[in-house]
Amino acid sequence: MGHSNQKPLHACDLSVEEKILLLAGRDFWNTNSLGGKVFEANLSDGPVGVRKPFPDEKGELHDLPSIAYPSAEVLAQTWDPALARLTGECVADDCIEKGVDILLGPGVNLKRTPMCGRNFEYFSEDPLLAGVFGREYIAGAENRGVGTSLKHFCANNREYGRLYISSEVDERTLRELYLVPFEIACEANPSTVMCSYNLVNGVRMSEHAKLYRILRSFWREDGAIVSDWGAVKDRVASLKAGLDLEMPFSEESASALKTAYEKGEISDSDLDECVERLLSLLYKLQERRGKRKVLRTREERLSSAEKVAEEGIVLLKNTGVLPIRNGASVSVTGEETNRYFAGGGSARVIPDGEISTLSEALSALLPKSEIVSADVVSQGKMDAYRLSYGKDVAIVVCGSEDGEGSDRPSMALSENDVRFILETAKNNKNTVVVLRCGAAVDVSAWENRVAAIVSAGYGGQRGNEALAAVLTGKVDAAGRLAETWANGREEYLSENAYRDHNVSLYEEGLRVGYRDFDLRPEAVRYPFGFGLSYAEFSFSDLKVSREKGGAKVTLKVKNISKRAGSEVVQIYVREAEPCVFRPYKELKAFEKVRLAAGEEREITVFLPRRAFSYYSTAEDGWRVHAGTFEVLACKNARDEMLKATIDME
Ligand code: BGC
Repeated sequence: MGHSNQKPLHACDLSVEEKILLLAGRDFWNTNSLGGKVFEANLSDGPVGVRKPFPDEKGELHDLPSIAYPSAEVLAQTWDPALARLTGECVADDCIEKGVDILLGPGVNLKRTPMCGRNFEYFSEDPLLAGVFGREYIAGAENRGVGTSLKHFCANNREYGRLYISSEVDERTLRELYLVPFEIACEANPSTVMCSYNLVNGVRMSEHAKLYRILRSFWREDGAIVSDWGAVKDRVASLKAGLDLEMPFSEESASALKTAYEKGEISDSDLDECVERLLSLLYKLQERRGKRKVLRTREERLSSAEKVAEEGIVLLKNTGVLPIRNGASVSVTGEETNRYFAGGGSARVIPDGEISTLSEALSALLPKSEIVSADVVSQGKMDAYRLSYGKDVAIVVCGSEDGEGSDRPSMALSENDVRFILETAKNNKNTVVVLRCGAAVDVSAWENRVAAIVSAGYGGQRGNEALAAVLTGKVDAAGRLAETWANGREEYLSENAYRDHNVSLYEEGLRVGYRDFDLRPEAVRYPFGFGLSYAEFSFSDLKVSREKGGAKVTLKVKNISKRAGSEVVQIYVREAEPCVFRPYKELKAFEKVRLAAGEEREITVFLPRRAFSYYSTAEDGWRVHAGTFEVLACKNARDEMLKATIDME
C-alpha cells in the first residue's frame, strides 16, 4: 500500500499496463493495488445493509452477517430525511467494522411502475423525494468516511431485459424526472456513481458520453463512474465516454484496451483522465481509512434501524380496531414466522442476530393479552384462520418476496394469501392485514372486507418490534406512501407503454405516478403521500411571499387530537396557465412535524426558483414561465388542504 507520507502517484508515474489494470477491479470486490503501489479499496453491497463476501477454506464466497436495515422503500415512507442520514451513518459504522471502503448504494431510480422487482431498493415515484433521501443517505455515510456508489445511472426502472433493453426517454422527461434524483443526490458528493446495465436512447449506459457529461455537471468534485457488475461490453467505447472503473475484472476488456492503445485508437489522455480520477479516489479512501472510527454501538445502530422501521410503517385503513389495547385477545396468522425478508439479489443481507416474531414482539407490549399464532407457510396450515375465531383482533401477515433480476409477477397478493384473508375476515370483523411487500399492492380483491391495513414493507432486523409498536399505539402511525397505490397494474400508464424485446418506450413522459393520477383520482386506491395517523391535524394560515431566489412558504399545523402524533406537510406547486404541458401539480417541499396533543407549530419552507420551472428543450435549460402559480399545502396528493397564489416573473 502506498504510504501516506509518500508523494501521491499520478498517471505519468504508471506504465500503460499498470493504467489498464487500475481501470478495472483486481477481482470481484476489490480494486487493483498494482502490487502494493496504490491503495486497494473494497466495494460491497448495499444499500439495505452491508453484504461483504468472505471466502471459506475452499475459497468459496459467503456473505458476512450484518445489521439488516429497513429497505429504501420503508426509509422513504418516513418522509424524514434525517432518518436517511442516520441510516447512512449507521451503515457506515458497519462498513468500518468490516473494512468496506465503498458501499454500493443508495439507489435512486424512480418507481415508474409498481412491477419493478427492485422497487424496495428505491425510494419513490417522485424525483424530489428520491433525490433528497439519496442525498442524505450519502451525506451520512461519506461524512463518516465511507464512500458510496449512487446507482443505477439511469432510466433503469424495471428488471425485465435490463441487460439489453433501451429505455427510450425524451429529453425533457429525462431532465425533469429521471435525472433529478441523481442531480439532488450529487449535492452530497458521492465518491462514485454506478452506471446501469440498460441502454438509454440506443446507447449503453456504460458508454453514454452525453449522459456522463450531464452527470459530471451535477457533481461538486469529480467522482468516479463505476460500471454495474458486468455492464461493460465495449471497454474502449466506455473509456472514451469516461467510465473510470470497470467491475469486476475482465480479461477481455484489458486486452481490448491494450490493442486499442497499440493501434492508436485510444490516446494517453483518454487513459489518463480516468486514471487520475481513480488515483484521487483511492488516495481519498486511503486517507479516510486511517481516520475513520466507529461512532455507534451495534445496539445503537439496531435501535436506529427500529426507529426507521417504526416511522416508515404506513397505516392505510383503520376502522378503529387499531391500536390494539392491552388485554385484547389476538391471533397472528399468515406468514407469521417469515420473520424477516430483506429483498432478494445484491441487496440481500444476512441479519447478524436473532429476530423476534411478530407475536413475540406483540406479547412484550401487550402483557395482559392472550396471543396465539400459526405460520401458514412453514406449517402448511391453510385452515389456520380458525385460530382467529372469537379473537378481539385477527392479524394476517402477507407478503411478496421482491428481488433483483426479475420483475414482480403480479401487483396483487398470491391467491393463497387472498383466500386466507377472505376466510379470516369472514369469521372475524376485526381483521388486520399486515403487508410485507417491496412496492405498491393491488388490494381491490379484499380491501373492503377487512378492518385495517398496514403496509410494513421490508422492515429489517427490528421490523417486528417496530410493527408491534405501531399496532399497539406505543408510537404513532407516522409513515406516508412514497408511491401511488392504484387499483391495479393496468392503471399505470407505464404498464401500457410500448415495449418489445429491445425497447421500452417511456411514452407516458412526465405522467408518472401522481403526475398522472391527479387527473384521474378514481384510478387510485391510496394516493402518493397518504398514510393515517392515530392523531388528527389541521392546517391554517398558509402564506406565500416572493424572496430573493424563490419564494417563502409559511403555515401552521396543529395537532387537534388528544394524543401525540406526526403529520407530513407536503407542498406542491401548480402553474395556473402553463405554456407547455405540465403535470397538474408537483411536490416541491415537505416537512415532517411531530406534535404533542393540542400543540401548534408554524413551519417555513423555501421554494427555490427551480421549484417553479420546467426544462425547456427549445432553450436547453430550466425556465420559469412568468405568471401565476398555486402553492398547495397537502396531506397527500389527494387531500389539498390550503391554497395560496404567487406571481413569478
Ligand atoms: C447490481 C448492483 C450491485 C452489483 C454488485 C449488480 O447486479 O445491479 O446493484 O451493486 O450487482 O453486487
